[in-house]
Amino acid sequence: MATAKAYTNIALVKYWGKKDAKLIIPQTDSLSLTLNEFYTTTTVKFNSQLNHDIVKVDERFLDKEDAAKVIHVLNIVRSLSKTNSFAEVTSINNVPTAAGLASSASAFAALAGAASTAAGLHLSRRELSRLARRGSGSATRSIYGGLVEWQKGTDDASSFAKPIDEDVDFPIEMLAVLINTKKKKISSRSGMQLSVSTSPYYKAWQEVVAHDMVAIKRAIKEKDINKIGHIAEENALRMHALTLSADPAFTYFNGETLMIINAVEDLRNHGINCYYTMDAGPNVKIIYDHKDRDKIVTRLTDIIDSDRLVVSQPGPGIKIWNE
Ligand code: DP6
Repeated sequence: MATAKAYTNIALVKYWGKKDAKLIIPQTDSLSLTLNEFYTTTTVKFNSQLNHDIVKVDERFLDKEDAAKVIHVLNIVRSLSKTNSFAEVTSINNVPTAAGLASSASAFAALAGAASTAAGLHLSRRELSRLARRGSGSATRSIYGGLVEWQKGTDDASSFAKPIDEDVDFPIEMLAVLINTKKKKISSRSGMQLSVSTSPYYKAWQEVVAHDMVAIKRAIKEKDINKIGHIAEENALRMHALTLSADPAFTYFNGETLMIINAVEDLRNHGINCYYTMDAGPNVKIIYDHKDRDKIVTRLTDIIDSDRLVVSQPGPGIKIWNE
């Protein structure tokens, strides 16, 4: 039996498309910030008395599709450790209310850590990152804290995350604006697949990411929050352009997303530097220097309830306890 705690991450240069859907090998590199406010704690216990896997998340049984993803990772762990037993998986997401940020990133990173340790495997961080990837691509990066790169690689052995700056010592913060708490209509898995196969801009996106990865790593070295934010914002808009240019076209934005984008632009026009990024849902994440937090929060509370604003700082890497 083992327990692991992993923090979610938000991509500043997004992963949006797979080269190999089975092994979850991405089309491009990506880079993220692990956050300290949102995390998942998962316990895995292998038990020879069980005749099937039992998976409980936030005190509820998962639906068939989500349970299958967990069982897929358990099957990989069983084959690596030559274990035959089924497992009991109990997972708790620590996100404020039903935030819609209970990302698969922290969930599959925690699962990889707890399941491999419970099965007696002693995986390195790199191996854990590869195992987490088999559950969900973005989970690859949640093995590490701070700023993390997922190098796309070409196969299972070469596609893993690497820390760029685990102990971020400059005052970057991220404010999550919680817009919608419902389950998303189009999963990131099917949304990115549709973008790869139908957007005429997909090739341009690959060039955008190659360029942004170099630029953002330079900006991180310079500890330049404005440059990091600007690159992240442009990158997010270009990712979302892939959804609008897919066939059939779709978008994750709603009216409130655009309202928050406008507020961020307005703040910038008033000399307060802040930048936005969005993932496969309407929530907006705002990147800024800690010193500007109060001004940004004050402006946003004019248009949105303060209980929908969550400030995060860079968070740590995975922690695993063998019990
Ligand atoms: C927009 O990691 O959820 O958040 O690999 O199919 O499980 P799967 O997809 P997932 O996609 C994340 C997409 C994103 C961008 C990112 O996190 O890089």
